[in-house]
Amino acid sequence: MLSTLSWKSSPRLAFDVGTANLRVISSEGGVLFDEPSICCFQADAPRSVLVAAGTKALPMTDRTHPRLRVDRPLRRGVLQDLNAARALFRYASECVLGRRRCSSKSTLIGVPADATQAEQRALMTAARDANLGTIQLVSEPILAAIGARLPIMEATGCMLVECGAGTTEAVVISLGSACVRRTVRVGGDSLDQAIGDFLHFRYKFLIGEQTAEKLKLELANIHSTGSDENGQIEIRGRSIETGMPGILLLPGHAFGEVLTKHFALIVGAVVNTLNETPPELSLDILDRGIILTGGSALFPLLAQMIGEATGLNVIVAEDPRYCVARGLQEMLAH
Ligand SMILES: Nc1ncnc2c1ncn2[C@@H]1O[C@H](COP(=O)(O)OP(=O)(O)OP(=O)(O)O)[C@@H](O)[C@H]1O
Ligand SMILES: [Mg+2]
Repeated sequence: MLSTLSWKSSPRLAFDVGTANLRVISSEGGVLFDEPSICCFQADAPRSVLVAAGTKALPMTDRTHPRLRVDRPLRRGVLQDLNAARALFRYASECVLGRRRCSSKSTLIGVPADATQAEQRALMTAARDANLGTIQLVSEPILAAIGARLPIMEATGCMLVECGAGTTEAVVISLGSACVRRTVRVGGDSLDQAIGDFLHFRYKFLIGEQTAEKLKLELANIHSTGSDENGQIEIRGRSIETGMPGILLLPGHAFGEVLTKHFALIVGAVVNTLNETPPELSLDILDRGIILTGGSALFPLLAQMIGEATGLNVIVAEDPRYCVARGLQEMLAH
């Protein structure tokens, strides 16, 4: 989290509201705030009292007593808890601006391309309640494409897959707009869940959300560094059979099926998008390849599986987690 900046007047801000992370961006300062999208509340207070948000609230997940409650504003890419979203927006804008109000100009917020009217309205309500001024919503895949420096305004097809924690959006863009798109509500979070379920059902071993996330990053690291998949991974949790805390040792390759099953859902969305793409745009994609953005693009198996299924060149954008944020910064500057 960055310290409060001392601008003479309030800067115009943009919010990349993600299932896993919230980022606040200004045109001059770039990413000013980057913390987990999570809040901890006092559960027994008559009105919700915020105990912690962002980075401070993350270690509280799965570790609260009955008088505390941890809430995530978003699930599967869209707002599901208005109260938590309001609190998180207030916390983030206070970290960036201090006690000042946001500028009267509009605040930009990225939303999944398939967000329903109701989902968009809920997000705007939370943002207005947090005094973010007039809200302008922008489609996330377009922002990611701008952030990945694709020539989206030209009469040429660019295919991008934005792989977040809650959603994955495959889109073919030409002349500034999406021509074909598919959204699947799977991402890094559902992979964490699949890893936890696998250990539960196959090994009768329970792990929490944060352990599943760490384990996934360890598996991603094995794949990116080309480390030996027979090497043992130490997993800490609770055995269902004994009820006792314990350590499970498994080789990296034990998770092969879970990973391929998960990524196959994304590959399916990419293939369907390509199947619906008009031939001239397909030609452009053949030349340019498919660009991956978002944090989950950092799992190398995804690019590999998309490449194998489509026969196309698959390129992970530079610093893929920040493509949407870079796109927002670019939009703020114009
Ligand atoms: N090195 C890595 N390898 C694999 N996955 C990663 C890596 N780094 C981050 N991730 C995953 O990326 C996801 C976060 O990405 P990102 O910040 O783009 O999502 P988000 O914007 O919060 O979600 P969404 O846009 O879907 O609502 C998390 O699920 C995280 O586990
Ligand atoms: Mg995102």
